Amino acid sequence: MRILAIETSCDETAAAVVEDGVNILSSSVASSAQMHKKYGGVVPEIAAREQLRCILPVIKEALIPFVTHDDHRKAIETHIDALAVTVGPGLVGSLLIGVETVKAFAFVSGKPTIPVNHVLAHMYANFVRSEQKLDKQHTINFPAISLVVSGGHTELYLMESEKKLKWLGGTLDDAAGEAFDKTARLIGFGTGGGVAIQNAASEYSTHPEAYTFKLPRPMIHDDSLNFSFSGLKTAILREWRKYVAPSKTIISAFAFEVQEAITDVLVAKTLRAAATYNAASILLSGGVAANLRLREKFKDRLTGNVSLHIPPVSLCTDNAVYIASYAFFRGKKIPWQKLEAQPDLDIEIY
Ligand code: KG4
Ligand code: ZN
Repeated sequence: MRILAIETSCDETAAAVVEDGVNILSSSVASSAQMHKKYGGVVPEIAAREQLRCILPVIKEALIPFVTHDDHRKAIETHIDALAVTVGPGLVGSLLIGVETVKAFAFVSGKPTIPVNHVLAHMYANFVRSEQKLDKQHTINFPAISLVVSGGHTELYLMESEKKLKWLGGTLDDAAGEAFDKTARLIGFGTGGGVAIQNAASEYSTHPEAYTFKLPRPMIHDDSLNFSFSGLKTAILREWRKYVAPSKTIISAFAFEVQEAITDVLVAKTLRAAATYNAASILLSGGVAANLRLREKFKDRLTGNVSLHIPPVSLCTDNAVYIASYAFFRGKKIPWQKLEAQPDLDIEIY
């Protein structure tokens, strides 16, 4: 089954065609991230306008392999079996652009539509075939523990099959990505976010100077599978204020310790969940799963027969490939008249 999927939940506009949930036939992503830079965070109004500007060019690009004589309607009618779209959670103005576009496409083509939950969909990036995964064990055995760690979410799920998901815990305040993003802004990396922290931290780890300080690892020993990252932000701020003109080494030492603190907690909680539920696999996904230190720590600390699955970086950050994959494995077809944007869509499923 070929699914054309559309993703417009925040500041990325994305479209992809995926076959049987695993084979990527095309993928296109546009981002308005650069335009939000000077405001220090995503501006919903700008994001929505950019969604509107990019949606058709992005879909057009995703349809290139299927289009002849510039006939896009025929391409959809002939090559696409269903249309999937992110309906939430996300920014209402952004979500509406994707949802209303898919409704119009379904209205004209008669294809069925599949609503998709963005946060749950992230983990299906692990089911997609990619060159980086080919040499590794591809099969995901169940039960699996799935950590979705993005700019807005830090959630743990138990996956009993491709279809059966149970929410185990999540952040009580800030998401891990938010902690990366806020620290990046505080120490002068603007909206460079987790990538900027990762780069600065790697400079420090190759020249570890005498300067060290220790941040808390919030809730690391707590029995629950919840997370909390807002206290970390306060601890960073308190430490940061001690420096009037921090040197490059101090800045990278900060980045290093922040990355250590966040990744230590993520790894410890996920491994605890894996032990509790006797997991055969661990799946990572979401923008923060792109973090090299996080990937390395999971590989180092994994014991027993648990297999580790991490999508390539391009499938960790927002795109429409995993939207199509989710739709294939877990989606339910509904008439286009029933599609609606749900900015507060629940992610805690049992
Ligand atoms: O999944 P995503 O693209 O968007 C959301 O659904 O939120 O995640 C974006 C988040 C941002 O907080 C960004 O700073 C973080 O992922 N991120 C990283 C890295 N790449 C992206 N965090 C740490 N290390 C990275 N390499
Ligand atoms: Zn996302």
